[in-house]
Amino acid sequence: MRVLIGGGSGFVGQSLSQLLRKRGHKVTIISRKPGEQKITWVDVAKEGLPPCDAVVNLAGENVLNPLRRWTEEFKQEVTSSRIETTRTLRQAIAKSQSPPHSWVLVTGVGYYPPSPTKQYTEDSPGGDADFLSRLVKQWEDAAQLPPAGGKSATRLTKVRSGVVLGQSGGALPSMLWPFRFCLGGVLGSGKQPFPWIHIEDLCRLLCHAIEEEGVEGVLNAVSPSSARDTNADFTQALSKALGRPAMLFTPSFAVQLLLGSDRAPMLLEGQRVVPQRTLQTGFTFHYPDLDSALRDLVR
Ligand SMILES: NC(=O)c1ccc[n+]([C@@H]2O[C@H](COP(=O)([O-])OP(=O)(O)OC[C@H]3O[C@@H](n4cnc5c(N)ncnc54)[C@H](OP(=O)(O)O)[C@@H]3O)[C@@H](O)[C@H]2O)c1
Repeated sequence: MRVLIGGGSGFVGQSLSQLLRKRGHKVTIISRKPGEQKITWVDVAKEGLPPCDAVVNLAGENVLNPLRRWTEEFKQEVTSSRIETTRTLRQAIAKSQSPPHSWVLVTGVGYYPPSPTKQYTEDSPGGDADFLSRLVKQWEDAAQLPPAGGKSATRLTKVRSGVVLGQSGGALPSMLWPFRFCLGGVLGSGKQPFPWIHIEDLCRLLCHAIEEEGVEGVLNAVSPSSARDTNADFTQALSKALGRPAMLFTPSFAVQLLLGSDRAPMLLEGQRVVPQRTLQTGFTFHYPDLDSALRDLVR
């Protein structure tokens, strides 16, 4: 298959491209900058989709970018980098003479309201709790095909991902060095749910959504143990995998000082999420629990 990936140059996109090529697919990336095996967003807006069988969107400014303050301008960039790119792809798919079979959008479990106790499946309501959950709602709406009535020739799968654990990007690499120097520890109370997925399982799930004809709708991309894992469980598992004690803790006020009161809840609160539909589609996880995932990632 020919797969077009918006934002495919980033952390998830690089792993996904590698896996797709290994499975015999051809990959073209859409980026803000031109380059080899790349086209730009301007090309797609002007000329429409190049011939392709599947489209994935991974584009988005990093919400937790520590170099950017949480200003109105940055919030706007976080929002528009996701919604505008998704809308550009949806419009190009809708206009295409030979539309792709599959359209996959990766969003986040931030759709569900943070809660230490409630458990969420793909059918749970959400999308109106806070900035992040409203963003996910708008982002998923921007992907919707067809506009009204009628059956689209393209299957849409919305993959709501937890924290992606991998060696080459995301949250894990920046957490490793404090743990290696025995400076690691829980964030805030440590009781907040920690929904997560191993990068390999996320990329396998995206391939599953691209390749399997019956797969569409919302899929939670979190490991099966995520529904019970907390930040303290993650801290303990990482400490065990590294063979280093984790005796310190970062108090909530320090996280708030660093990230501000709007972004700090993204680390100090969380959602208990179950991959119910994901498992019903026949997907199996290679890394279903923290110990197996972290053993693989820090070896
Ligand atoms: N990583 C996680 O833990 C996680 C968890 C849940 C959901 N997600 C979502 O999954 C998607 C992929 O995550 P990722 O970690 O691979 O992201 P990433 O590496 O931070 O970024 C992906 C790509 O987005 C493009 N991009 C960045 N800022 C942009 C902007 N202002 N306008 C347009 N494009 C921009 C960049 O491509 P170019 O520079 O080539 O344009 C970048 O390579 C994101 O939408 C993210 O929100 C990630």
